[in-house]
This record gives sequence, C-alpha cells and structure tokens, in this order.
Amino acid sequence: MLLAASISFLGNRSDNFTRPAWQVFPDMDDQDKYLPQRTSSFFDDGRADRPVPNGAVHRGNELDIKNVFASQFSAEQFGDDTKSIALNTGLKTDGDPYEGFPIDVNEENLTLGQDKYTLYCAVCHGVSGDGNGPTKAFNLVAASFFDTARAYSAPGKPEGGIFKVLTEGVGGGATGMAAFNDRLSPKERWAVILYIRALQKTRVPAANLSSLPSDLANTLTNLKPEPSIQN
Ligand code: HEC
Repeated sequence: MLLAASISFLGNRSDNFTRPAWQVFPDMDDQDKYLPQRTSSFFDDGRADRPVPNGAVHRGNELDIKNVFASQFSAEQFGDDTKSIALNTGLKTDGDPYEGFPIDVNEENLTLGQDKYTLYCAVCHGVSGDGNGPTKAFNLVAASFFDTARAYSAPGKPEGGIFKVLTEGVGGGATGMAAFNDRLSPKERWAVILYIRALQKTRVPAANLSSLPSDLANTLTNLKPEPSIQN
C-alpha cells in the first residue's frame, strides 16, 4: 500500500511542483527528440540537423520568391541577357512587359503548360479557358481568355503581362486571382502562358470564318457545345 501510495503521489509531482514528474508509467507524455544543432549518434555524419533533400521547395523567409526573381537578382544568378531577364521577370530590359516567349515554343513546353493549367487553372478558368470552371457555380467569376477587353490576357496583349498576373496575382481578396509564384517556377509560368495562347487560337472569331476553307468554316459554324459543359 505504501508503495502504491508513493507511486501515485510521484505521478502528481508535475501538477504541484515546478520540477518534472518522475514518470513511473510515462504513457508517452514526453518523447525523445533532437534539439537543433546538437550531435546525433544515430546519423553517420553525427549531425542532428538533417540536410534539406534535393528538390525540396523552400517556403517562407528563406526564399522570398518575388525578390529573388527581381531583375537584379536574375542578372546575377541567371545571366543578364534579354531572355534570361524575361524568363524570370516577364519584363524587357527597358522594364516593359515582354512580348513573345523566352522559353522554346515546342510540344514539350506546351504539354508542360497543359499539365499545369489543368492542375491549377481549369477549376476557375475552365478547361477551354472561357471562365466556366466548376467554381463559377459558387459565384467566382474568373476571367475568360476569349474576352478581348481583358487587360492582361486578351489576345494581342504582351505575354509578360500574364506573367505578371501569375507572379503577383491580380484583384486581391477572396475572389481575385491569386499569385502562383510559389507553385509555378518561372519556366512553368511561361509554359502555362503558352498553353493559354494555344487555347485562344482554338476559337476563330465569327468575322474571320469566311477566310477559312469552306468545309472547315461549315464545321465550325455548326459546332454544338457538349451538353455537360453547356451553361
Ligand atoms: C480560384 C479561382 C482561380 C484560379 C485557380 C485561377 N484564377 Fe486566374 N483569375 C481568377 C479571377 C476571379 C480573375 C479575375 C480577377 C480580376 O479581374 O479582378 C482571374 C484573372 C486572371 C488573369 C487576368 C485576366 C485579365 O487580363 O484581366 C489571368 C491571366 C489569369 N487569371 C490566369 C490564370 C492562370 C494561368 C491560372 C492557373 C495558374 C489561374 N488564373 C488560376 C480566378 C482564378
């Protein structure tokens, strides 16, 4: 009885005393752990801090991506030729939005853009880029890339403007367009822009139909939307 009484008393020690309890039955209350910058007998190199795995994406202060990809930084890190600066900032050397693509316009990059677009953008902007993604049902009206009045994405506007939107976001707030600089590398952003341009080319303005071969013009005129994506 004396033994049982002392054990239960000792278990209470942390409630009533400032020093840690003697844990007769620890119940995993405290777990072994390594403190930062201590040594470890477990790892071969003797360090408790593990090196960052290759390809890990840094978040937070370590990489303030917006500043890291500022033109000054890119000039130092990626070269100061026009294309490298455009690749990382979306700008020409004079600071205006870049026109064209600093990445290769090929199938590989187009496929990369399609993958990323389907993953990140289609939910709002729609699979075909017309702004009719599933989120529209929740009153989130994303831009249509076929809307010629759009400030950045309208056909004919410089591609660097879309890069700016993808890097910084636009509109802000809950219903605006978020920045994707933490999810898309500069190259991936350009690939997505390439895919948007490809989507835009899939629609021929009615006024231009007559310039197409007549059988193609007829097919296009008689196209009906899929019932499932009709709005
Ligand atoms: C959560 C929904 C949502 C997602 C996801 C989203 N967008 Fe947007 N996007 C919007 C909304 C809403 C606007 C309109 C913002 C405004 O005009 O204030 C917009 C605007 C834009 C614009 C600017 C159009 C213009 O010229 O005004 C571009 C370009 C754009 N989005 C591209 C993308 C791309 C590329 C992706 C994927 C990487 C993407 N968006 C993902 C909601 C979204």
